[in-house]
Amino acid sequence: MKNIILVGFMGVGKGTVARALAKESGAYAIDTDDMIESLENRRIKDIFIEDGEAYFRDLEKKTAKWLEKNVSNAIISTGGGFYKVKNLNKIAKVILLDASFEYIYQQILDHPNAKRKLAKRPLFQDIKKAKALYKERIPLYKGVADAVIMIEGKSPEKIAKEILKSHSC
Ligand code: S3P
Repeated sequence: MKNIILVGFMGVGKGTVARALAKESGAYAIDTDDMIESLENRRIKDIFIEDGEAYFRDLEKKTAKWLEKNVSNAIISTGGGFYKVKNLNKIAKVILLDASFEYIYQQILDHPNAKRKLAKRPLFQDIKKAKALYKERIPLYKGVADAVIMIEGKSPEKIAKEILKSHSC
């Protein structure tokens, strides 16, 4: 199986769907934000505070290069800005998890750990700015995606099955 990479906006559920896909397909799931946090031995939030967003984006590029060289047969979930790396299509089949901004925001608010989910995301602190970023990014996500899956009202398991079935990954 070729790698599958999940892109999409913050809070859309890329990590959760990656784990459901792993269970369904038997491939391991890895997450680029987790990789960066372990490489740096600090949280994304602290990387943004201490070294700024540009430094974090360089780490994403470095992670993408490493994935391209070293990883096969894996499900890769990404941070919401990872779609910008140049070699995305060389790493994997790219799947966009799509939903409206309102749906994503409500999902975060409904989560038992809503406060923590928002606090760990530096670019989700101001709702107006987050919505503007969403509007700017949706066409860009679509530009890099091999397939788009609308996730609204679907369980992670259903989304995983849909990804595997319709695209013979
Ligand atoms: C970001 C999304 C975050 C994380 C970082 C930047 C973005 O990941 O990578 O805070 O630019 O959209 P999630 O998509 O998991 O929230």
